[in-house]
Amino acid sequence: MQVLHIDSSISGAQSVSRQLSAGVVARLKETSPGLELIYRDLAAVPVPQQSPAILFAKLTSLHEMGALSGEIDAMIAAALQGGARPDASAQSEFATTNVALDEFLAADIIVVGAPMYNFGIPSQLKAWIDCLAAPGKTFNYSAAGVEGLAGAKRVIIASARGGIYSAASPMAFMDHQESFLKSFFTFIGVTDLTFVRAEGINLGPEQKQSALDSALAEAATLKAA
Ligand SMILES: Cc1cc2nc3c(=O)[nH]c(=O)nc-3n(C[C@H](O)[C@H](O)[C@H](O)COP(=O)(O)O)c2cc1C
Repeated sequence: MQVLHIDSSISGAQSVSRQLSAGVVARLKETSPGLELIYRDLAAVPVPQQSPAILFAKLTSLHEMGALSGEIDAMIAAALQGGARPDASAQSEFATTNVALDEFLAADIIVVGAPMYNFGIPSQLKAWIDCLAAPGKTFNYSAAGVEGLAGAKRVIIASARGGIYSAASPMAFMDHQESFLKSFFTFIGVTDLTFVRAEGINLGPEQKQSALDSALAEAATLKAA
């Protein structure tokens, strides 16, 4: 069993989501000592932001594989015929986004440390999510609608946020962090999605400690299989 552990907080050792994601992974290892672990710290080593150059490299690669059709295929064919080529840095950035996608595809369980920044997720985490949105690999559009292809995976989100946004809170409508992650992973077919949450982190040291303790206690009930 392969576990992919992602962190994205910019707060280093002080980070609550890092403590929580580490607690989740430690618990999974405890229940399944043989699992293989891959760790990616998106704050230390960000994946590239999507860009016109990366998109061109990606479309060129799809064109060369015969996986494009219609107007886009004709547009890329014309650009290549006119002498345009993805440059070396775009090729290398595109390759990096593919490595992130391949790590996700190979994992059985994905643990994501996800802080709330300005009501959403950190831009580094969004850039990683952008790597996963891959037609033909994580989802397909067809006449029948969208089909998610990542249904066999389990995703555990270690969520941390300064305020309180859970169901009964008057601020619930401002949550674009957990709600975005839920939308994205549901879109690509993940049904086994768990949120382990520490919230109210900025409401004082006691609330911070009790939110972290109860989230870690919840993490301690998880099992890898
Ligand atoms: C750049 C930044 C933006 C933040 N924006 C919000 C916010 O919109 N709402 C909120 O409740 N807390 C916000 N916070 C507080 C964090 O969600 C809280 O400190 C949480 O513990 C962050 O996770 P971390 O400790 O893993 O970094 C923000 C913190 C930072 C550093």
